[in-house]
Parts: sequence; C-alpha cells; structure tokens
Amino acid sequence: MKDNLLKFRHNIPSTNKLLSEIARNSFVGGESVPPFFALYTDFQSEGHGMGNNKWFSEKGKNLLVSFYFEPGIPAAEQFVFNQYFAVTTRRFISQFAGSVSIKWPNDIYVAGKKLAGDLTEHTLSGDHIKYTIAGIGINLNQDWFPEEIPHPTSLFLETGQQFDPHQFLHDYHDLLVRDFNRITTDRAALQKEYLAHLYQMNEVGRYIITGKEQYATIRGIDHFGRLQLETERGQLVTCGFKEIVFL
Ligand code: BTN
Repeated sequence: MKDNLLKFRHNIPSTNKLLSEIARNSFVGGESVPPFFALYTDFQSEGHGMGNNKWFSEKGKNLLVSFYFEPGIPAAEQFVFNQYFAVTTRRFISQFAGSVSIKWPNDIYVAGKKLAGDLTEHTLSGDHIKYTIAGIGINLNQDWFPEEIPHPTSLFLETGQQFDPHQFLHDYHDLLVRDFNRITTDRAALQKEYLAHLYQMNEVGRYIITGKEQYATIRGIDHFGRLQLETERGQLVTCGFKEIVFL
C-alpha cells in the first residue's frame, strides 16, 4: 500500500508542477490520486518557490517532494494546514539536529540557517479546499550552495552525517500521515507548537515592514496566519507574506 503512495520520477521540471498536472487530470477522467500520495525526484530543472524564487538543489543530494492532501477545510482556514505541515516537518527534522525552528510562514531553519523551503498550493471548490499540493525541498547532503542563496544549510553541514533521501521520505511520510488529523482535532495544540518554535518569536529583529527598515519583535500570528509584530514604539503591526522582509 505504502509503496503505491511514494512515487519516484527521475529528473523532472518540478514535483509541484507535475503533481498539479496529475491532480488536475484526475478530475477529468485521468488516474485518481489518493490522499497522501507523494511524488519525489532526484533533480528539478524548474524547482521554484513563490513568485520567481528558484529552488537550487544539486542532483541526487536532497529531498525534493510534493504531497497531495485533501484537508477538507474552509479556504479561510488554510493557515491551519500550513501550521500542520510546518510543525510536523519541524518535529521530524528535530530528531536529527538541534535548534530547529519555523521561519514564518513555513521555512525550516536550523541554527538560524535555512534547511528547507516549501511551496503549498491550495485548489479551491467554492469556499472549501478541494485539494492541496505541498512541496518541500529539504537539504540533506549538499555541502556547497551558490553565494546568492541567503544563509543556506543542510543536515550534512549541521551533523556531519549523510542521509538517504528515500528512507528519509519514507519515515517523514509516516509522520505526516499519522498527524494529519490534528488539522481537525488538535488545532489549539498545533498553534501552540507552531508559536513555540517560531523563529525570532519574542526577540528583537531587523525587518523591512511595508518598505520601512526597522527593529521589531514578533509577537504571534492572527487567525489568517499573518505575522504580528511590535515595533520599537510599541505599536502592533500585522503583515501579510509580501509585506515583510527578514533582514
Ligand atoms: C522557497 O523558496 O523557500 C520554497 C521552495 C520550495 C521548493 C520545493 S522543492 C519540491 C517542490 N517542487 C518545487 O518546484 N518547489 C517545491
């Protein structure tokens, strides 16, 4: 059963792109996609994040995977899915390394450096989520990154150990399946775990907030998952994804 859920495709443009196509086709007579299906690869020629962000990953070194989920929740609650995904990923990775945090909204940081980035794409039906494709790149064995990538790291760089991407995915997938129902049954605890591991929570940091460079302190997130910060003047500001840059 499990083997049918994990599908490897050698050298593709992007796991998110390909899985999105497969999912779209499944609704117009193509082969159906079961919940928790995962598509992974050893190399992406068009790996990307939000907007024009490229995702750089050396061939065969890291985990590059996209998961198919059916969260069945209102679109307005989509941040609960993001919290589940970030919190579960963080907990899985913390078996191997110390100081693993979630950089808002969904990056995984180890000791203040970026270990993993994710791209979550929801497809809606009316006011509900029909399905979600959550793609993630986790740097496992890479020991070199291009200079233009800000503060990258890998599990190898942090621990000195090599990781088998297939085994890593197998175990990570088990945890994602096991904890999926927390989205409906355990929201308060999810939120608590998310905030407990939020990068720079309650610490003064330097940010560009709606165009202005300033010091501020992260204080939490609102119902829609927007970041709440306290400025040096004690004012509470709320930021969406494009309204803040971490410096
Ligand atoms: C980011 O820029 O931080 C997000 C990057 C997300 C990369 C992953 S790798 C697997 C999946 N396929 C993609 O093209 N993107 C995601």
